[in-house]
Amino acid sequence: MLLEVRDLRVVFRRRGRPDAVAVDGVSFDVPAGQVVGLVGESGSGRSALVMAVMRLLPRRGVRVEGQVLLDGVDLLTLGDAEMRERRGRDLSMVLLRPRSGLNPMIPLGPQLTGALRRHRGMARAPAREAAVELLDRVGIADPRGGLAAYPHQLSVSARSRALIAVAAAGGPRLLVADEPTAALDVTTQAQILTLLRELVRETGAALLMTTHDLGVVAGTCETVNVLYGGRIVERAQRHRLFGTPRHPYTHGLLGAIPRLDGPPAPALATISGSGRDRLPWARSCAFAPRCSRALPVCSEVSPAVDTSGGRLLRCHNPVPASAE
Ligand SMILES: Nc1ncnc2c1ncn2[C@@H]1O[C@H](COP(=O)(O)OP(=O)(O)OP(=O)(O)O)[C@@H](O)[C@H]1O
Ligand SMILES: [Mg+2]
Repeated sequence: MLLEVRDLRVVFRRRGRPDAVAVDGVSFDVPAGQVVGLVGESGSGRSALVMAVMRLLPRRGVRVEGQVLLDGVDLLTLGDAEMRERRGRDLSMVLLRPRSGLNPMIPLGPQLTGALRRHRGMARAPAREAAVELLDRVGIADPRGGLAAYPHQLSVSARSRALIAVAAAGGPRLLVADEPTAALDVTTQAQILTLLRELVRETGAALLMTTHDLGVVAGTCETVNVLYGGRIVERAQRHRLFGTPRHPYTHGLLGAIPRLDGPPAPALATISGSGRDRLPWARSCAFAPRCSRALPVCSEVSPAVDTSGGRLLRCHNPVPASAE
């Protein structure tokens, strides 16, 4: 297994207030060559989770526990220098926000060749050729000319593609993206998701991707983890999750019971309340206050994890399989 996250916890210490548990014992795998999604609404812990995987959380005021095994090596135990070396080379973050990932003062070429020389130990001339190849691969129309372009001279789509090229330059086995397409218009979003999927297929790298948007997951991810209040409440292969959502939260996100052979139903806002109304996982189901299927037990006992039938489910009263 390429990436194994085991019992990961991320706790923010807050002055004068109780600690905030952003990630509360999360375990999942990312196989090589696959796209794995982490879906959840705002505050569910997506960013905290991927930043912990990348080891990009600040030391001060944050406690990270558990294991992040990349090819069996626990990244959480590495020294800072080794982690810096691995970041970009073994695992890399795709940053598509407008002001991230690219230095506005430096043309694309040097930014790409810098990454290629640093992570792949290439000499200047081969790095330049590899940079042209990379820009070509991510669909930049004039890759050789693109080397001289400054980031602000590029269209949003071209800049996003360039950012993906930067993330891929070191030849990482794992790409990590937090809400990669949130800042993009719908057309660019579709192009960029297609590109990411192609990149995964061509390079055999894996992609771990977060989103709040089930529509993004529908066309992109093989396996989907649904995150609520810092825990995974349901996990299944994409088709099963869309075809037969069992957790009331997943069911609500999907809005309606979709047909297995049809396109996924659009996500409708059928869940009342907000992520802030939640109970402590330690002695209840965090989702109970908003759940249409809640029973008394849901606010008294923490639901155990059920992994039967090729699906992970954390629910006292799941949507019955017969109603699927
Ligand atoms: N620096 C911080 N200090 C205190 N608590 C934090 C901090 N960062 C995040 N949290 C808490 O951790 C929880 C998860 O935050 P996270 O940023 O991972 O959410 P998210 O799923 O990425 O959502 P969004 O991106 O919409 O904010 C939130 O409830 C938040 O209150
Ligand atoms: Mg976030």
